[in-house]
Amino acid sequence: MDQFEIDGGVPLHGEVRVSGAKNAALPILAASILADGPCRFERIPDLRDIRTMLRILAELGVRSERLDDGTIVTEVVDTDRVCAPYELVKTMRASICVLGPLLGRRRRAEVSFPGGCVIGPRPVDLHLTGLEALGVSIEVGGGYIAGDAAALRGGGELYLGGPFGPTVTGTANVLSAAVLAPGTTVIQSAACEPEIVDLAHFLVAMGARIEGIGSPTLVIRGVERLRGTSWRVIPDRIEAGTLLCAGAMTGGDVTVRGADPTAMTAPLVLLQRMGVVVERVEDDGLRVRAGGRPRPVDVVTLPYPGFPTDLQAQFMALLCVADGNSFVTEKIYPERFIHVAELQRMGARIRKEGPTAIVQGVERLSGAPVMASDLRASAALVIAGLAAEGRTTVERVYHIDRGYERIEEKLGALGARIRRTDPARQEAAQAEG
Ligand code: EPU
Repeated sequence: MDQFEIDGGVPLHGEVRVSGAKNAALPILAASILADGPCRFERIPDLRDIRTMLRILAELGVRSERLDDGTIVTEVVDTDRVCAPYELVKTMRASICVLGPLLGRRRRAEVSFPGGCVIGPRPVDLHLTGLEALGVSIEVGGGYIAGDAAALRGGGELYLGGPFGPTVTGTANVLSAAVLAPGTTVIQSAACEPEIVDLAHFLVAMGARIEGIGSPTLVIRGVERLRGTSWRVIPDRIEAGTLLCAGAMTGGDVTVRGADPTAMTAPLVLLQRMGVVVERVEDDGLRVRAGGRPRPVDVVTLPYPGFPTDLQAQFMALLCVADGNSFVTEKIYPERFIHVAELQRMGARIRKEGPTAIVQGVERLSGAPVMASDLRASAALVIAGLAAEGRTTVERVYHIDRGYERIEEKLGALGARIRRTDPARQEAAQAEG
């Protein structure tokens, strides 16, 4: 199993290009099920989660190919297949994104229930009630969600808000079914995340009729069919934010090319409040320059345009070396704090009280062996390792490979001393030698 060895303490310098957004690419690729005709996608990151989605699509009769220039071409070749099996779905919760498109286009779906997750309970009740409002009958049994959409129709007004705000992939699912449902659907409390906006624009490019894109109220008028189209996925705001944190935490000067600052207001404002110099670079990027230890700030994760939960761990890493105490409150996933114990192993002073972590800044973290346990927590540990004194080993980096494309190469190009190693392979080689 691969791990990262990081020799910390080197300020990062230089330029790096952000990849396409994983969380936009996943529902958009799933929505290619809706197309009559081939789709071409640019800026789809080459990630484990994307490969999983393409495997699920293959199971569902969607052929795909990645061309030499990175473009992915998809084409539906078999519309009879409607089952997303447990073996694939269990490796990625976002597999649930095929449910809406299958019901919209094929009127039937059998999707394995996504399992538990280390960041806390992640129910799909809102997805299901939203789809039921479109006339879909849903049965849950044997670990599968079976949907019959023979009576699919516009759902009138339906509400997708839950105890923690709107649901992102739930909005993707209901939207992707409603675009082919005869009649009108009004989704209230739709997620406004840029990834959902990208999906909605993609559906419009296929011929869908959607109003209110980017707002909490989406009005969808069902059409009879959707055509294949070409699409360029938005840049990944979470990867961009992660790289900016790495630049700031190491006391460096980093420009992230291709990032979209308009999708990142909350994290950029927080960086500025910490005393990090943030500049836009000729409409194609963002530059951060650190000036000494960050000032403490309070972070509260919220639905977009609030501060994203997917950057909470990385910002906490940065606040571990702030000049004072910060409060980090998680309002989307109150249990998403698995990185806390690992950061403590690196000398961080963090106390957890319910959904809040109180972070008492220390001058420096020290390198330690730590364990990656989910995607964003792993990213936080890598950032912490880059800034820490001495060597950090981050085990189980397959978590990070789910969502960050060639992260060690990108960080290496900025001067980071980071290597990917496989201890089992090394041991075997030593034994042979
Ligand atoms: N929720 C419900 N019922 C539902 C669905 C969600 O109560 O039916 C709750 C969840 O438990 C959570 C909140 O609502 O407390 C928000 O969950 P949401 O459904 O919005 O999350 P998601 O769609 O499963 C996406 C991203 C996550 C990101 C969240 C929040 C994708 C593929 N995943 O998940 O990304 O954290 O939105 O922004 O888009 C990641 O990339 O590391 C990641 C976890």
